[in-house]
Amino acid sequence: MNPTKTEPEGGPSRRMLVAVVVLAAVATVAVTALLINVFERKQEAKNPFYRVVELNDTIDDPATWAKNFPLQYDMYTKTVDMQRTKYGGSEAMPHSPTDADPRSVVARSKLQEDPRLKTIWAGYAFSADYRERRGHAYMLEDQTFTERQKFNPPAMCINCHASMVTTFLKLGDGDIMKGFNTISDTHMTYKQIRETVKHPVACIDCHDPENMQLRITRPAFIEGIRALKGSQGVQNYDVNTMATRQEMRSYVCGQCHVTYYFAPPNKRLTFPWAKGLKVEDIIAVEDQAKLVEWTHLDSGAGLIKPRHPEFEMWNQGVHARSGVACADCHMPYTRQGGLKISDHQINSPILKINRSCQTCHHFPEEELKAKVEDIQDRFFNLRNTALDALVDLIYDIKAEKAKGATEAQLSAARDHQRKGQFMIDFVMSENSMGFHAPQEATRILGEAINFCRLGQLSLHGGPLPSHNPPNIVESPGSPGPATAPAKHTMKQGKPTTVAQLGK
Ligand code: HEC
Ligand code: HEC
Ligand code: HEC
Ligand code: HEC
Ligand code: HEC
Repeated sequence: MNPTKTEPEGGPSRRMLVAVVVLAAVATVAVTALLINVFERKQEAKNPFYRVVELNDTIDDPATWAKNFPLQYDMYTKTVDMQRTKYGGSEAMPHSPTDADPRSVVARSKLQEDPRLKTIWAGYAFSADYRERRGHAYMLEDQTFTERQKFNPPAMCINCHASMVTTFLKLGDGDIMKGFNTISDTHMTYKQIRETVKHPVACIDCHDPENMQLRITRPAFIEGIRALKGSQGVQNYDVNTMATRQEMRSYVCGQCHVTYYFAPPNKRLTFPWAKGLKVEDIIAVEDQAKLVEWTHLDSGAGLIKPRHPEFEMWNQGVHARSGVACADCHMPYTRQGGLKISDHQINSPILKINRSCQTCHHFPEEELKAKVEDIQDRFFNLRNTALDALVDLIYDIKAEKAKGATEAQLSAARDHQRKGQFMIDFVMSENSMGFHAPQEATRILGEAINFCRLGQLSLHGGPLPSHNPPNIVESPGSPGPATAPAKHTMKQGKPTTVAQLGK
């Protein structure tokens, strides 16, 4: 239809009719265009890629997935890059390759940076070798060649350091959970399981090959999050069908960036979330399991070691509460060849503040960076005070034992060491240097310093101080997306005062 071809003559009513017809035509075209646009978008969402190869659950090699998704793959391979920030990122340290350890580059040794760490872990694998984390590309080799291998780690260490889907499916005859159970039930060794894997975490571990939706592939997370939801009154939670897309943008990371333990007798990998995600909830679960991972060489205390609780700590922070996911900061959108894609070079957000933070915070880049470093500096200083307190307690127990302290005194002091150590280590092994939940990290250090003080007091006889300040530390549980109602499970310690926290 051509509007210029309408009759030149005609009364007002005729002209009106023509105008209506023209308008209707324009509207029809506009609506059609919109519908086509919507339809195309839906198709894009359904099939946002050019399918060169058919993918399925037997293909774990990311280089094959790259044929359909070259841009994401390119960024994924860049996780080999090493670049430092003030407290994070990663730094390449030269290493002379040997037969036992052929790596020519390793990450910085945390033990060399802070010798107190050797003291707090005396007698445990971590006192032999503990380094800074680096990019995903290195996860498999760094685990294979760490000196902690001398301590015979369980096979399930591999869960978070390799692409596991094909291995689980093979061992479980097509059933991931069965494959996972087989590894611990048949007491496979690390060496045996290591021979079944080839790649670090790969596309198949986070994505469904049929439609590229995010998915959870780790049984320990499926069980852990079910237990957590159970504690919040949600029964039979099935993460892969019940989680929202925004939740999945954190849950995929929570499969590995969490604390864990190996449950006896088969050393089954377990996420201790049945009472909640706060540090006290986690200690309560591991206490209930009567877990002792090692006996401290100097003090004789039976101890447990937390590991990288990024997911748990993020959950206590303001970002989780505001619905900001791991991927929002660590995998921000980026423009590549006219397309908007997720940044698969997963690393420190400080290296890409414009995309990671400035989408929400309209401050200059330098100011945002200074804000982060300010939080981190404060945390780092208090962490140092806490570490001193813990080392003091350890040497005090050792000295008093030699002088003939009673069993009751020693066991009370060791119990305080166990709690203080776990809490300090919890926030110290968390990899954001306090950033993911600054207030919670500070609260935990304050409580931990108090446990060290109480430990020393119980050695030196005398009644514990009787003053009882108002109970202001009882923290209201943060109503974050996956947080249990606050339950204060550790009753032994006196509440910490504001003055102590603000140190
Ligand atoms: C609001 C943004 C934000 C969110 C959300 C967030 N992080 Fe972070 N993360 C940071 C910042 C900032 C750092 C500190 C980086 C540095 O010091 O270089 C960090 C550090 C880290 C590190 C250490 C990185 C390094 O290079 O040293 C890891 C690992 C990490 N985060 C994982 C996670 C996981 C897993 C989640 C979700 C459970 C998460 N983060 C959620 C901002 C965020
Ligand atoms: C639940 C997942 C998970 C399990 C199980 C796991 N790791 Fe890791 N591992 C991680 C994450 C996440 C990092 C990176 C963060 C960090 O370094 O704190 C890491 C880092 C490492 C590193 C490099 C930094 C360092 O500590 O020197 C080594 C080596 C390592 N793991 C060895 C092991 C060994 C040995 C086991 C078994 C005892 C194990 N991992 C089990 C998730 C896991
Ligand atoms: C299969 C387990 C696994 C999953 C899933 C996983 N990570 Fe990691 N991540 C690791 C391990 C292991 C390391 C340490 C590798 C090393 O040090 O060799 C690591 C390292 C990192 C680092 C440090 C990078 C650097 O350059 O220093 C960041 C940041 C990080 N992960 C964030 C995330 C985020 C965000 C997600 C989710 C989108 C995620 N990870 C998913 C296991 C995992
Ligand atoms: C640690 C988990 C993880 C791994 C490993 C991973 N991805 Fe992703 N990927 C994500 C997340 C998170 C998103 C964002 C999804 C969303 O928002 O729904 C994403 C999004 C995508 C998308 C949708 C478009 C986009 O960029 O947002 C594609 C395609 C994709 N990834 C391809 C790949 C390929 C190819 C690989 C392997 C080379 C890979 N991914 C490895 C976590 C991962
Ligand atoms: C998707 C949006 C979003 C992104 C991305 C984001 N933030 Fe936030 N941030 C928020 C919201 C919402 C709050 C809480 C409300 C407020 O104080 O503005 C917040 C609060 C903060 C606070 C105050 C923390 C506190 O405990 O009160 C700091 C600091 C901060 N963000 C830094 C960052 C940095 C650094 C990054 C990038 C690594 C970042 N944010 C990325 C949304 C975001």
